[in-house]
Amino acid sequence: MASTDTLFRPFSLGSLSLPNRIVMAPMTRTFSPEGVPGENVAEYYARRAGSVGLIISEGTVIDRPNARNDPKIPFFHGEAPLGGWKRVIDAVHAEGGHMAPQIWHTGAMKYGNFEPGTPVESPSGLIGPGKPRGEAMSEAAIADTIAAFGRAAGDAKALGFDTVELHGAHGYLIDEFFWAGSNVRTDRWGGATIAERSRFAVEAIRAVRAAVGPEMPVIIRLSQWKQQDYAARLATSPAEMEAWLTPLVEAGANVLHCSQRRFWEPEFPEIDGGNGLNFAGWAKKLTGAATISVGSVGLSGEFMASFRGESSEPASLDALLERMERDEFDLIAVGRALITDPHWVDKVRDGRTDELRPFSPAALAELV
Ligand SMILES: Cc1cc2nc3c(=O)[nH]c(=O)nc-3n(C[C@H](O)[C@H](O)[C@H](O)COP(=O)(O)O)c2cc1C
Repeated sequence: MASTDTLFRPFSLGSLSLPNRIVMAPMTRTFSPEGVPGENVAEYYARRAGSVGLIISEGTVIDRPNARNDPKIPFFHGEAPLGGWKRVIDAVHAEGGHMAPQIWHTGAMKYGNFEPGTPVESPSGLIGPGKPRGEAMSEAAIADTIAAFGRAAGDAKALGFDTVELHGAHGYLIDEFFWAGSNVRTDRWGGATIAERSRFAVEAIRAVRAAVGPEMPVIIRLSQWKQQDYAARLATSPAEMEAWLTPLVEAGANVLHCSQRRFWEPEFPEIDGGNGLNFAGWAKKLTGAATISVGSVGLSGEFMASFRGESSEPASLDALLERMERDEFDLIAVGRALITDPHWVDKVRDGRTDELRPFSPAALAELV
């Protein structure tokens, strides 16, 4: 394996200083009964805190009815859940780590409704093109949801988190506003262009930025692909990508977390070829913001297949190291490899490649 030094350069932005470029990707674990993260969750994150540069929590939901799609997903509001998150961030800091909560609303991306009496919400009552799910949000519901994102960010800062991430990817609520397939509104929250459909995200980011002040980095996670449609694209050209991302950065997001299922896939190969910039590379080039890439780092298969039972073997990091050496993006997020192995970063740093573990979906059954 090539030298991994490039992964172990420090990174600073505003009030955040990280010892290395490795981010733990946000991963829902459904180990929070009643929506409260307990001691086991705090210990799980703390085990990774000493070596991972930045931990992004599992998605944790804002203060709106029906914002989650599983009863064991943690809340990020209310006394008991926030008390649980306080224990998490204190445990992470005790190990010298840094952490963001990923604040989330699952929108129409849910099957069944375990909060009877409250509607499943989505921009247009659609989960995808021609597929009804949920109720179209009223102006009041939209305003309250934006305010709830702001309150969650303010609470994150008050609890001592180092940064905060909005989940704007993978076909959940914010992404449902971005996507023409699920946003057919004719008011100011919809429109024919990606810039118009970005207004909800812009307002959510503004609320978050207002709550955390100018120094704390604000991250937004974005994806072209959706669980509803892997081939969907919000931006089919660099110009469209610029129209999508620039307003988000102007609103106060200074880190773009560009989710791909495979980090090495070029975003616009028709422009810069088969080994061209990936999504995070283009996002950095077009906006100047810091970016995080992600997708099958150190593993042979991608993560959605793992939900269908597929295992993955350890894979070479060389292609990643080349891109990081070129500073194509600033940080790299690692998901499943860190679920399986809290010591993954140490092993990579020390060149102990023979000790890297495969990923089996069975690993999701416990917090190692
Ligand atoms: C069990 C599991 C839960 C996930 N939950 C979330 C989530 O809550 N929020 C999110 O943005 N991505 C989520 N993801 C996606 C990961 O953050 C990451 O993008 C994906 O696993 C690809 O990285 P990997 O190939 O290194 O695993 C999840 C992935 C897995 C495997």
